Amino acid sequence: MAGRQREISVSEFFLKNRHLLGFDTPAKALVTAVKEAVDNALDACEEAGLLPEITVQVRDRFGKSRVVVEDNGPGIVESQIARIFGKLLYGSKFHKLSQSRGQQGMGISAAGMYGQLTVGKPLHIISRIEGDELASELYVSIDTANNRPDIHKKKRVEWDRPHGTRVEMEMEMEGHHQTGPHSVEVYLKQTAIANPHVSIVYTDPQGRETLFARSTDRLPPRPREIKPHPRGVELGRLIQMLSGTKSRSLLGFLVDEFSCVGKKTALQIVKRAGKPLSDRSYPTHIAHAQATALHHAIQRTPIQAPRTDCIVPIGEARLLEGLRKELPADFYTATSRPAATYRGNPFQVEVGIAFGRPGETKIEVDASGHMHKKNAPDAGAVEQLIARKDEPIHLLRFANRVPLLYQQSSCAITKAVIQTNWRSYGLHQPKGALPIAPMAILVHVASVWVPYTSESKEAIEPYPEILKEIKLGLRQCARQLAHYLRHELHLHQEYDKRAYIEKYLPHIGVALQDILTLTDEERDAAVRKLDNILHASRTTQRQDP
Ligand SMILES: Nc1ncnc2c1ncn2[C@@H]1O[C@H](COP(=O)(O)OP(=O)(O)OP(=O)(O)O)[C@@H](O)[C@H]1O
Ligand SMILES: [Mg+2]
Repeated sequence: MAGRQREISVSEFFLKNRHLLGFDTPAKALVTAVKEAVDNALDACEEAGLLPEITVQVRDRFGKSRVVVEDNGPGIVESQIARIFGKLLYGSKFHKLSQSRGQQGMGISAAGMYGQLTVGKPLHIISRIEGDELASELYVSIDTANNRPDIHKKKRVEWDRPHGTRVEMEMEMEGHHQTGPHSVEVYLKQTAIANPHVSIVYTDPQGRETLFARSTDRLPPRPREIKPHPRGVELGRLIQMLSGTKSRSLLGFLVDEFSCVGKKTALQIVKRAGKPLSDRSYPTHIAHAQATALHHAIQRTPIQAPRTDCIVPIGEARLLEGLRKELPADFYTATSRPAATYRGNPFQVEVGIAFGRPGETKIEVDASGHMHKKNAPDAGAVEQLIARKDEPIHLLRFANRVPLLYQQSSCAITKAVIQTNWRSYGLHQPKGALPIAPMAILVHVASVWVPYTSESKEAIEPYPEILKEIKLGLRQCARQLAHYLRHELHLHQEYDKRAYIEKYLPHIGVALQDILTLTDEERDAAVRKLDNILHASRTTQRQDP
């Protein structure tokens, strides 16, 4: 037994458990690989203050998929490339508390590892930083036994981009290229909704090019980095911080290492923690019992809520713009909740609704008050992110502007939608299920640390604080929707009534002509007058919420 004990490297572990990283089936692995590369490209561009221009290419050949993602970002210095793409748990975002798409430091290297496992090919990277005469080209794979990069080839090459990164990976392919809700197209389309400042050109395996054009040239404001909020720090982490700090006094430690702690609050915490702690205690000498007292004191002292400029919501106006751009519908509404916190981490929830599916009949009222039935042209099937009227609504889930396509049922967003009583807003909802309506609900959770349910970042853990905020956002939008639905119902009833009366108007005309011996012109004028009276009602004019 003792002879068989061996250390396991993190890459070996995830190679055996690749489903944990979202690489279980070839079709899912393809979407995950594109997602990891695109998320990194967007993060890099935004961090460098550049408007993202991304190209994504998927090609299927001889039972393999080849994915190429290219960005106009700042590029990567040559000495870092191998470790970024050939080592799990290596990245710039894990220790930083500010909103970004990536957070774990293993997205892109896991995609590379999957390619290496299924077709035996290393990742091919070209990257150039601004001002460099040549770009760096590397072929990198992971030495999984040691979680270290293996560089196969490295050279300096000419490249037509002044700065940016190009990642090429090959992986196993399964059957046909997938379309539908779990496809690369849908992932990119949803990315375009939540990121109206991004331009993406996608070339699918058939060579068809789709452009997701940007609708704004303004980058979202850059999120500010924050220090941890004392309320969210668990005892073990506090002990670790105490032993690792450079501060020479407890007072200095509390003020320097945490956000929202000024000198006054720090003194209150120390006083609450009691003797033998004092503001001048040396942090690295604080024993376990005193650290526990300090931890309790932190929980009991009133401390300012965390700063919220570390998160950047999409914003109501941009959210509506994104929905209108990508989802043709009859009615839209959106709301941005104020920031809140879970375990000391700030987060913010946004909700948008697109209701009504093109292709279905709708009643329109013209300026004279006349009502018409109208059939909108049907958009293409792939374009449809809005459910049919007899289907459960479609949910578009986002975390830090990244679409979440898998594990819908275990996500906080789904739970919040199911737990909302949609019947009171005029929708049909089976017990314990999503409502049935021609509708898409978009929910965005932005946070400095999104609590994903697993390393594959596919669903959000239903912390009570997060559930509560999502429900409040949903209710706010649902009220606007109910207002619209009441109006639509009223229109339909009115249309039916009017249609009934309209049917008899010519007969009334003939009867009047008979009784009053009218000329044909007088009869027609009387019918026109009656028709105008019928349509003069103002109750059908909608005020948009
Ligand atoms: N296209 C790119 N341009 C510039 N830097 C990049 C690019 N792709 C990756 N990086 C850098 O490489 C690091 C590692 O990327 P990786 O996707 O493995 O992890 P991550 O994005 O930090 O977290 P996650 O695992 O959640 O995606 C990033 O933190 C980033 O600093
Ligand atoms: Mg990443």
